[in-house]
Amino acid sequence: ATEPDSVKTNGVSNGGDNIINDSDEENLSPDDLSEVLAAGTKEAHDKAENSPFVKDFLRGRIKRELFKLGTAALYFVYSALEEEIERNQDHPMFAPLYFPSELHRKEALSRDLEYFYGEDWENQISCSAATQPYVDRIHQVGHEDPALLVAHSWTRYMGDLSGGQILKKVAQRALKLPSTGEGLNFYHFEGIHNPTAFKRLYRSRMNELEVDAETKERLLAEANLAFKFNLDVFAELQEIGKTIKEEVQDIGFPAHGDMGGDINK
Ligand code: HEM
Repeated sequence: ATEPDSVKTNGVSNGGDNIINDSDEENLSPDDLSEVLAAGTKEAHDKAENSPFVKDFLRGRIKRELFKLGTAALYFVYSALEEEIERNQDHPMFAPLYFPSELHRKEALSRDLEYFYGEDWENQISCSAATQPYVDRIHQVGHEDPALLVAHSWTRYMGDLSGGQILKKVAQRALKLPSTGEGLNFYHFEGIHNPTAFKRLYRSRMNELEVDAETKERLLAEANLAFKFNLDVFAELQEIGKTIKEEVQDIGFPAHGDMGGDINK
């Protein structure tokens, strides 16, 4: 697969829809890295979508305290990821995928955490037991095997660009967050106006990387590992959720019995 001409000549640091022709064909082949990763993580993706934590979340059953912990976990993951990306921004196996202004989430997550926890947010959060191995692995990869950073970036950023809008709406409604987007900056990619077009650009950049068959296999294994880390964090959050007292979800109406799962207001 080749990159659309309209993108090549316009540089990379302006990834809005205006520079990408949405009707450009993708011409992907099953051997392309983007397709190897997508096909090879399909099972893991199904598992993630069907995990109890994600299913509850999608039904609007998410407690505010749990959402805050999830946001904190993401903050530690993206801090590690973006630190290693910065370190390797000129590495030939990563440079074409370096889109800090479009993708990077650490600043957005900081603002969300400040909204939820207040000014003192940094002293109130800590890296959870399930998040730590994920963070450690990202740092290890960044130092010892930077080619594998592609797998971590792909797993998170392409996922965020895919399911993000749905998750944003669910969270906004379930947690009654303001329509201004406060608390949900993570889900809002200010520099990307057309996620579909950006994903296409990202895939074509991935598919132009020089990867031999062995590296492709190692990247697929690493992407599955990244999914596994995410599943572990979900499982941990689900366990913690059981210990958090149910909140009254509909202010103004008495809560009786199991009222979860109702996002139709
Ligand atoms: C792609 C939904 C969870 C990683 C997608 C797509 C959808 C989707 C609709 C678009 C597929 C396409 O473009 O053809 C969801 C939903 C989830 C979920 C509803 C549950 C809340 C996750 C998780 C991860 C993830 C937990 C990993 C952390 C990805 C990746 C892609 C993707 C990497 C890009 C695949 C590609 O480029 O072909 N997801 N997803 N997703 N998702 Fe998810």
